[in-house]
Amino acid sequence: MDNVANGVAARTVEGVKVYGEGHLAVRALDRINVSFDTGRFTAIMGPSGSGKSTLLHCIAGLDDLTGGDAYIGDIRLGDLTEKELTLLRRKKVGFVFQSFNLIPTLSARENITLPLDIAGEDVDVEWFDTVVETMGLGDRLHHRPVELSGGQQQRVAAARALVSRPEIVFADEPSGNLDSRATDELLSFLRRAADEFGQTIVMVTHDPMAAAFADKVVFLADGICIDEMARPTSDAILDHMKSLGD
Ligand SMILES: Nc1ncnc2c1ncn2[C@@H]1O[C@H](COP(=O)(O)OP(=O)(O)OP(=O)(O)O)[C@@H](O)[C@H]1O
Ligand SMILES: [Mg+2]
Repeated sequence: MDNVANGVAARTVEGVKVYGEGHLAVRALDRINVSFDTGRFTAIMGPSGSGKSTLLHCIAGLDDLTGGDAYIGDIRLGDLTEKELTLLRRKKVGFVFQSFNLIPTLSARENITLPLDIAGEDVDVEWFDTVVETMGLGDRLHHRPVELSGGQQQRVAAARALVSRPEIVFADEPSGNLDSRATDELLSFLRRAADEFGQTIVMVTHDPMAAAFADKVVFLADGICIDEMARPTSDAILDHMKSLGD
């Protein structure tokens, strides 16, 4: 794909996020500079509280930075009205949250197509079937979330993020509740989404095996990017985490 060639799909420039005020203020992002290449799969790792989820939320336009800038492509999110931001998110961004955020009264199928239904767009049936089959949800489409296991709910949430073929998919520990086989399927699918469909994947994970599916790992600590690793293997990531711990 032409648009894959070495572009930057999303980035922050000196991104700052402060939660709260005064002596309760928490500086979750501390002038962070990070960029995600178009059509690549990037993993984000770092200790609990290092700002991984905050980074994803701010770069996906779900929350505002306190300082600095976040961009999707060439678009500076701070320049957009709330309405423009909503449209941009709908058109370009998919998000798999740490919690699933499924609508309890809707079936799995309805949850998956919800973003398209809201946007008034048609469902690409072939792509829907590909996503659903890859996620192993074919026989669960008419169940409501309460009738699904945690892992199945997580796969519905992943399918929902992918079904509109967003340019960028942000995933916050998407394999957290999956068994090893389902994890492998999900990660392989994200890998294919980048390789075959040119989608940009940005995934937070604590798991070196999961991160090894990515083209690059970005390491966060205390709200900044402290290191990057290209073409990671799980062994190299483990070694690196040990060296950071020293
Ligand atoms: N809504 C909020 N209000 C106040 N502080 C917050 C809020 N959200 C996050 N924080 C704080 O900001 C810091 C970064 O949080 P964040 O959720 O981004 O970390 P994380 O790297 O995703 O951690 P984890 O691996 O546990 O999910 C933490 O100190 C956290 O307590
Ligand atoms: Mg988090």
